[in-house]
Order: sequence, then structure tokens, then C-alpha cells
Amino acid sequence: MNNFIFENATKVYFGKGCVKEYLDCLLKPYGDTVLLAYGGGSIKKNGIYDTVTSLLRESGKTIVEFSGIMSNPTYTKVLEGAKLAREHHVDMILGIGGGSVMDCCKAVSMAAVYEGDIWEDFWARAGVIDFEPMPLGVIVTAAGTGSECNGGAVITNEEAKIKTGRDYPKCNPKFALMDPTYTYSLPTKQMISGGFDILSHIMETYFSEPNEDNLSDDLSEALMKSVIRNLRAAVRNPEDDTARSNLFWASTMAENRIIKLGKKCDFECHQIEHQLGAYTNCNHGFGLAVIHPVYYRHIYRYSLAKFVRFAEEVWKIPRAGRSDEEMAKAGVEALAGFIQEMGLPTTLRELGISDRAILKEIADSCNISQGSYKRMTREEILEMLQECFA
Ligand code: NZQ
Ligand code: ZN
Repeated sequence: MNNFIFENATKVYFGKGCVKEYLDCLLKPYGDTVLLAYGGGSIKKNGIYDTVTSLLRESGKTIVEFSGIMSNPTYTKVLEGAKLAREHHVDMILGIGGGSVMDCCKAVSMAAVYEGDIWEDFWARAGVIDFEPMPLGVIVTAAGTGSECNGGAVITNEEAKIKTGRDYPKCNPKFALMDPTYTYSLPTKQMISGGFDILSHIMETYFSEPNEDNLSDDLSEALMKSVIRNLRAAVRNPEDDTARSNLFWASTMAENRIIKLGKKCDFECHQIEHQLGAYTNCNHGFGLAVIHPVYYRHIYRYSLAKFVRFAEEVWKIPRAGRSDEEMAKAGVEALAGFIQEMGLPTTLRELGISDRAILKEIADSCNISQGSYKRMTREEILEMLQECFA
């Protein structure tokens, strides 16, 4: 196991009714002016907006609204939020939404107080920053990114055509309120996209060194099986509370740093998907679904035993006389089968991408992971993207 330091500063309140029960008390340590941040309006349709604004008014808070945070939030939107926060002397940010809202809020929490050029000093290069962002609390409405329990803020700089993010622990929300019933109104396609994102985070951690006996891999297998089982159940019945609760907590568990402890972590599929997003604005989980099987077909030979273990433990594929190579391949194809079963896209064309010319730019601009079983070359990434196109 590799050395590690562990801390997670976010306090989680999980379960039905948690917003009404705890929000007032959680806001008390901060000042009176709250930047209420949300996305394109789903919270107005499902009633969450009314619930939260009533609670804020009852607590005597002044609300400054920051709305219209888009999926794959842009740096322009971050600067808009930061300006609003500064102009209204906001004391804290309350974000309500999925990964995009939470990430944008974290970025605003930094940009609103940082004196220099935060894009240059944080996102563009791994410079050393050390300052306390504006306090942030989140009410999570979608299972997927796990952004509620980490310091990652994935932001798209449209001008530079870069989508990127890093975990800055001081950006962890102070609190995360997670009521699984708040996720019920998520469109089924988005629920599946988020479900695949969870699976992706776990696989990106699992398929990396070290491979010898380690707790992370055991936890990851339990998590992957839980996500597969509960996503199937939630597709059958979107109001299956057990399934939605398990998916919700699995999304946090996959990205709250715990399973990453002692592991190198790969995240090459994420690196490619982020640049795919920068060029096409595609849905995060959908992009990952297209990339993962193609990537694993390229790398399984470099860690055959781990892919055999994946086939046996996660997909329960019997040996039945198969060689290691056949077992490993069968595991990857079981993953591809699950992607199809969930109705996720399997090609870039299905994602609505028709311009092959951008593939080289994506391959040339994405980060190359240090944690992969096989360090990819730009040529191989381009080859993979061509295969994804089919
Ligand atoms: O904007 P609104 O109207 O709220 O609608 C959203 C959006 O259209 C909707 N939605 C969310 N909760 C809902 C709901 N609709 C109805 N009922 C609800 N309860 O869902 C749509 C997608 O939301 P979004 O937040 O964009 O999706 P997701 O949670 O998948 O977040 C994706 C973003 O997170 C980044 C991705 O790259 C992408 O930019 N990631 C962040 C990570 C992190 N910070 O740790 C890690 C991830 O790997 C990922 O990169
Ligand atoms: Zn992700």
C-alpha cells in the first residue's frame, strides 16, 4: 500500500428530511448573506427551491441568487458568480444541484476571495495555492460526481478549450445535505449517466497499482457490485428508495478519497472525457461510457490478473476452461454489455459528435495519466478515439 494522509472536512447529513431538519442550524455560524446557487431550474420544478428559500427566510438570511449554472460549468460563469459574491458582500455560498453546480460553487468560493488570476494559479498549472475559500454548503440533488465530499472543481475554460479540475482540500464543502428523495426527479437518462460516473470513479481507482492485497480493491469491488445492482433496480423503479439511497451514498464513497488511499489511481478515461467535453460539451457520464470499454481493451494485457479478478469478482464470470486472457476479455465485455443494457451511448456518433477532425486536438490536449497500467501515448489516445467514433 502506498503512503497516504487522510482528511475529509465535509460533514454529511444523509436521509429523508435532512434539509428541513438541519439547514437552519448549519447556517448559524456564518453571516446573514447567502449566495443561493443553482442550475437551469430543475429545483423550481421539483419544489426544492421553495423549500430552501422558505427555510432561509425563516432563518433571517438575505438571499442573493446565482442561477443558470450550466452542465460542464464554464470559467465565465465562475467569474460571474465571484463578482456577484463580492458585490453583495456574501458571507457563504449554498449550492443546490448536481456536480456542475457544486463544482461551480467551489470555483466561485475561490475566485471570490483570491487576489490573483485563479485560472492561471489553480487550474492552468499546478501552482501552490494556500488560502481559505469562501465557506460553501451544498444540497445535493443528483448521485454521480461525489463532488459534495471532495475539493475538486471541474471547470471548462471555453477560450482555452480546456476542461480540468484538481482536488483542493480547502474547497471541500463545510456540509453536504443529502436527501435521496431529492434525486427522484432526475430524468432517467441523467440518473444512468450519474450511475455510470460512479462506476467509472471506482474502476479508475481499482485499475491502478498497487495490485497486491489492499483494502481499497476490496472496498471497490463491493462498491462496484452495489452500483450495478442498485442502478438496475433504480431503472426498474426510479422511486425505489433503497436503490436511490445506495446510489447516492456510493457516489460519495467513490469520490470522498477513501478508496483512493494507498492507490496510484488512473483516471485516464476522465482525462480524455474532460477534453471531449471541452470540445463538444458532451454529458460527462455518457462520454465515459463510450471511452471505458475501448480503453480497457487497449490496456488489459498490461495487468491481466487484475482484469481476471474484475471478471470473477464483479461480473461473476465462471472460469469454465477460459484462459486468463479470455477471462480478462470477458470481464471487459461484461462491462460493455452493462453499458448497452443501461441504454448508455457506445459511440461518439451516438453522443452527437460528427467531426472527426477534433479527435486529434482532443488527443493532443488531454492529460496523460501517471497511474495507468500502461502509460498512453498521444497516438494511442487518438487511435482509441477513432475506435470510439465507429
Ligand atoms: O441545471 P438543472 O436544471 O438543475 O438540471 C440538471 C442538469 O440538467 C439536472 N438535475 C440535477 N439534479 C436534478 C436534475 N433534474 C431534475 N431533478 C434533479 N434532482 O441534471 C442535469 C445534469 O446535472 P449536472 O450537475 O451537470 O450533472 P452531474 O452531476 O453529472 O455533474 C457533471 C459535472 O461534474 C463534473 C463533470 O465533469 C461535469 O462537469 N465532475 C466533477 C467531479 C468532482 N468535482 O469530483 C468528478 C467527476 O468526475 C466529474 O468530472
Ligand atoms: Zn466523473
